[in-house]
Amino acid sequence: MTRKSFLWLGLWLCCLTAGVKAQQLERISPGQEWPDNKGEHINAHGGGLLFDEGKYYWYGENRPARGFTTEVGVEVYSSTDLMNWTDEGVALAVSEEAGSPIERGCIMERPKVVRNPKTGKYVMLFHLELKGQGYAAARVGFAESDSPTGPFRFIRSLRPNAGVWPADFSRKDIREAKALKEEDYKEWWTPTWREAVTKGLLLARDVPGGQMSRDMTVFVDDDGKAYHIYSAEENLTLNLAELTDDYLDYTGKYVRIAPGGQNEAPTIFKRDGTYWLITSGCTGWAPNEARMFKAESLWGPWEQLPSPFVGKDADKSFHTQGTYIFKVEGTDDGYVFMADRWNPRSLKNSRHVWLPLEFKADGTPVLRWVDSWSPREQFD
Ligand code: DGJ
Repeated sequence: MTRKSFLWLGLWLCCLTAGVKAQQLERISPGQEWPDNKGEHINAHGGGLLFDEGKYYWYGENRPARGFTTEVGVEVYSSTDLMNWTDEGVALAVSEEAGSPIERGCIMERPKVVRNPKTGKYVMLFHLELKGQGYAAARVGFAESDSPTGPFRFIRSLRPNAGVWPADFSRKDIREAKALKEEDYKEWWTPTWREAVTKGLLLARDVPGGQMSRDMTVFVDDDGKAYHIYSAEENLTLNLAELTDDYLDYTGKYVRIAPGGQNEAPTIFKRDGTYWLITSGCTGWAPNEARMFKAESLWGPWEQLPSPFVGKDADKSFHTQGTYIFKVEGTDDGYVFMADRWNPRSLKNSRHVWLPLEFKADGTPVLRWVDSWSPREQFD
């Protein structure tokens, strides 16, 4: 081969690779690899979406190919069409400082970012586990940035609502809950233990130091008030807690949802005045049957309904676990359910499953499997 033809071959190979990388996606293919602008599978797991100034931002856990701890931080991608995503880099980086709550080797999960209309800041809440402590710390982390792509500044981590009882607990409820002692309920899953949990056995234990906070999401209502929804009480009970106007703290008003019901992976949306909450059960990285709740007020009562998943493998939620629900900008009724198909052997390679929500005549959401779909065609 002459030098000239060798150079031509090199150029052709370069173009071919660049062409593959720059290929525009025309459809969303749930469960398949989802290449970003560089051709890399999107590394934003347990994620959430923000729409801001004409662009979508997808935040999620940057996970290593092997292992379960956070080595990089929270990654952010941007897109204008929900299919083609540009890697904007690390929005919130782990700290290299020994002893920092977000020290490399901690666990950061399920980050959600919202823009605060009053301060103009982008606020991130995420589930934080401290380095070397497994899932024992059960804290929420707060971070803030002037730009949607970061860098986010870590503010603090805590267990929510220390010293505060739920809004719907009467004095009598508090007295009764305080009287419950863990040593009297050594055996879990018995009817008496379940009743004690419902009445506040673990809630009361955690009131002094704040409630445990693991799987979580953030919801901003039409009036701009934001709420943190998280798995508390050893993942047995969901809490819905109101955030302060700057979204950086709690007002102290919170309620428990499905006490003792063991819900994780909360996702929530509001449609025609009704709030819908889709959650999972607690089986680690393994999929299980989703649950659904509805309410006319965030403060409840929350009514439990059957899983919204229908068809083959609905009892395993199509081998996924939800992470967020968002409304597509410019549509009247286009809602998308974001989920993870976890791969614990390589969390980085866990697949994303995004499905359009359908609705029954009475408004009940339905999730049906589709091999591929286009947001444009679906919601036009
Ligand atoms: C299920 C949760 O939903 C995930 O976010 C993660 O915390 C795993 N459990 C860990 O086992």
